[in-house]
Amino acid sequence: MPTHLLDVDDLTTEELTAVLDRAAEIKGDGADDPLHQQTLGMIFEKPSTRTRVSFETGMTQLGGHAVFLGPDDIHLGHGEPVKDTSRALSRYVDFVMARVFDHADVVELAEYADVPVINALTDDAHPCQTLADLLTIREQFGDFDVSVAWVGDGNNVCQSFVLGAAMAGIDLTVATPEGYEVDDDVLERAAGFDNAPETTHDPQAAVADADLVYTDVFVSMGQEDRREEKLADFDGFQVTTDLLGDRPLMHCLPAHRGEEVTDEVVESDNAIVWDQAENRLHAQNGLLVWLAEQ
Ligand code: CP
Ligand code: NVA
Repeated sequence: MPTHLLDVDDLTTEELTAVLDRAAEIKGDGADDPLHQQTLGMIFEKPSTRTRVSFETGMTQLGGHAVFLGPDDIHLGHGEPVKDTSRALSRYVDFVMARVFDHADVVELAEYADVPVINALTDDAHPCQTLADLLTIREQFGDFDVSVAWVGDGNNVCQSFVLGAAMAGIDLTVATPEGYEVDDDVLERAAGFDNAPETTHDPQAAVADADLVYTDVFVSMGQEDRREEKLADFDGFQVTTDLLGDRPLMHCLPAHRGEEVTDEVVESDNAIVWDQAENRLHAQNGLLVWLAEQ
């Protein structure tokens, strides 16, 4: 059975550390074509800047190749069942990466794949983002003895970060509006690492003791028709200069300036979002090489 990454807690805490260490090593020293002649199939049902370019560039850096499979390129889910796409791709490529709406689709891809399947964002999880986030926090603070405040939606990016933070030993407080909390299942899985986050509906309380503030868009991909409703529901959750204070700001990007963050905050020296974005490349390089070694 191949090792898959559908969410961060598919890794043990030791494996998570090994992936981050491999990422840091390759970031510092480069790598001598460890994925020579290997291919990554990249399924995208949603748009992407960082994920697509970092995976594709990473495969080039590691001596391999990536194939982009956009929503109009393959039959996934419409011309053939997900399981058939998975079985066919497994006969060609060495890894499959998938960005899809329904988390059940990456689960099905993994169930039928003979090669590792990497979740590159579903409506429920974004583990590759969390790997980059943990790498960034460790670089910025030296270790994970850090208090983080999440302010915003408790969906995909937040949920994987909750798991990664729990595994890494980060002290996390999650502030969401009512109705946008992290799923109970994710909180229970975090509690399994003896480090479930504090939860609140008060952004000011969440940031009070935080070393770092992290946010994500209020209107996720696929929710565009709920924009007005969501912007109203998230009133008071915008990360402003006032709320951030002198803390670093993390954001998975893309940033919707004027919604979850102000332009001033994103353009300020407090924003470490570009280091975070760069680390998508390094974290995924570490992941791909580690997966190839399993
Ligand atoms: N953070 C992130 O996944 O960015 P993209 O949507 O640009 O890939
Ligand atoms: N929550 C966002 C994350 C984008 C990387 C979305 O799902 O659109």
